[in-house]
Amino acid sequence: MRPTRVIKKPPVTKFKTTPNLTNYPLLYSKLKWPQIERELYNAAKDPYNLAHFCIDRHCTSSRKNKAALFWEGTDARREVYTFYDLYRQTNRFANALKSQGVRKGDRVFVFLDRIPELYISLFGGLKYGAVVGPLFSAFGPDAIWDRLYDSGAKVVVTSPELVGRLDEVRSKLPALKKVIIVNKKHRPFELRSHEISYEDMMRKSPETYFKPHTSKSDFSIMHYTSGTTGKPKGAAHVHGSISCQYATAKYALDLQENDIYWCTADPGWVTGTSYGMFGPWSNGISMLVYEGSFNAEKWYHLIEQYRVTAWYTAPTAIRMLMKAGDDVPKKYDLSSLRHITSVGEPLNPEAIVWGLKAFGLAIHDTWWQTETGAIMIANYPTLPIKLGSMGKPFPGIRAAVIDKNGREVAHETEGDLALKPPWPSMFKIYWNKDDLYRSKFQKGWYVTGDRAWMDKEGYFWFVGRADDVINTAGHLVGPFEVESALIEHPAVAEAGVIGKPDPERMEIIKAFVSLKAGYTCSTALAEEIKKFVRTRLAAHAYPREIDFVDSLPKTRSGKIMRRLLKARELGLPIGDTSTLEE
Ligand code: WT7
Repeated sequence: MRPTRVIKKPPVTKFKTTPNLTNYPLLYSKLKWPQIERELYNAAKDPYNLAHFCIDRHCTSSRKNKAALFWEGTDARREVYTFYDLYRQTNRFANALKSQGVRKGDRVFVFLDRIPELYISLFGGLKYGAVVGPLFSAFGPDAIWDRLYDSGAKVVVTSPELVGRLDEVRSKLPALKKVIIVNKKHRPFELRSHEISYEDMMRKSPETYFKPHTSKSDFSIMHYTSGTTGKPKGAAHVHGSISCQYATAKYALDLQENDIYWCTADPGWVTGTSYGMFGPWSNGISMLVYEGSFNAEKWYHLIEQYRVTAWYTAPTAIRMLMKAGDDVPKKYDLSSLRHITSVGEPLNPEAIVWGLKAFGLAIHDTWWQTETGAIMIANYPTLPIKLGSMGKPFPGIRAAVIDKNGREVAHETEGDLALKPPWPSMFKIYWNKDDLYRSKFQKGWYVTGDRAWMDKEGYFWFVGRADDVINTAGHLVGPFEVESALIEHPAVAEAGVIGKPDPERMEIIKAFVSLKAGYTCSTALAEEIKKFVRTRLAAHAYPREIDFVDSLPKTRSGKIMRRLLKARELGLPIGDTSTLEE
């Protein structure tokens, strides 16, 4: 038996609002995807389209004039869009794509900061039947080129601030025909022949309803995801994915009619679309978008100001809030919060313990991937949380831990985390990479590339990416458990752990550690930290080497890039770094 710390949940009557999911086993046994689809879609009259599910359908209901989007810009500018505003604007955008000669299925990429026009272009493109692709606005020319070239993008929506980076590679993009420029800051900008002013285009384009001609199996959105090696690959989804995003936003994120929901992820990453657009809006929820990046004080201030009730964020953000100090949240009124969820990396037990103190709420971990399109495993409002566990499979999803032959392994035995295909939001292709796509499906399973184990009660526990797992003298050690133990030490802010080749032990555990303010690195501190971890984990699972670093290399979605730490350590080529944060 592995030791577990459990947070028991209060009885349903004690919640601020009754959760949407009160009986997990019941919903697990009865959820059928076609039934979920019927909550959104009437085959006799509705078009099958994400923009319809997320925007248009609300405009024939009492939600028509409800705020869909509260936007706060970096310059403190604020804008509010109702569902009806979005309906009209996305009609304009779709009508404009038509008059520009764009065809159904053409790729339309959006390379913008988190401004309302990003949301309008993306949904306008979806409504039109284009395959849309978001790009992080921080991408440089090479990262842009990889994605636009591979997808054969015909249209890019960007801004005067960002277009320079596109210009550097435009001559190598033969498929790119139009560049639409959103000049939100009204800069002096002279359009060139291939460029179109977004503002002019929208003004001239009619706001009359554009009826989508898409079907359930048409491609909707593609996200480029970088694996551990090689170039990023474009995972493409279809309009039919909505059933999953809708249901998981309802039952895992627990979104409710009166919520003010904030997803802190950028739409360049799938969390920022599946749960920064599709999940909340298909449920008709009001959502906050903040243009700026992480800042502890600003984030708390936003929660206070907008009375945020439901919050979806990432372990890295929680760790940064922890690093900013326990006194900071006390300065703000965070009492509006009622449900907090997290994704992207393992959620360290210490982060949950801290969250309980800072917000009086447990942070609920959720697990999924770009390829899965939606949450697959989660902690739910009414189920006890086991600290360090990702929770249980979402209703309608079958998850398992399997061995090399596709057989399910015994409880508490580590193996490959796998999912039973298909489910509505399962990726349908890697663009131009059929063999790679097929290689992900083995013996009747979709194999996720993550290592995990399941306990007797059906909770899943994350061990690490298959490539990150460390083999030290025959013991397999996941970096997550070591990192979690490290950050329980009072001096440690963040930790990244790798296996370093060793003649004796095959690999030894090496940790890269950043310290909290007020601590200085020293050999004595390194020894103390090693000792500290030894008392918490098995004797073989402590880091034999510790390097102190100012910060850890992370992707833009906040994942610690362990392969980069390893490559640097071993002096190997560092591979694709287009998603690396500056
Ligand atoms: C990988 C997926 C995260 C969704 C958006 C797309 C890691 C994600 C968790 C979690 C432990 C997690 C996994 C997964 N991951 N969530 N709750 N606990 N690990 O993400 O860029 O496709 O990455 O992120 O390794 O396979 P992605």
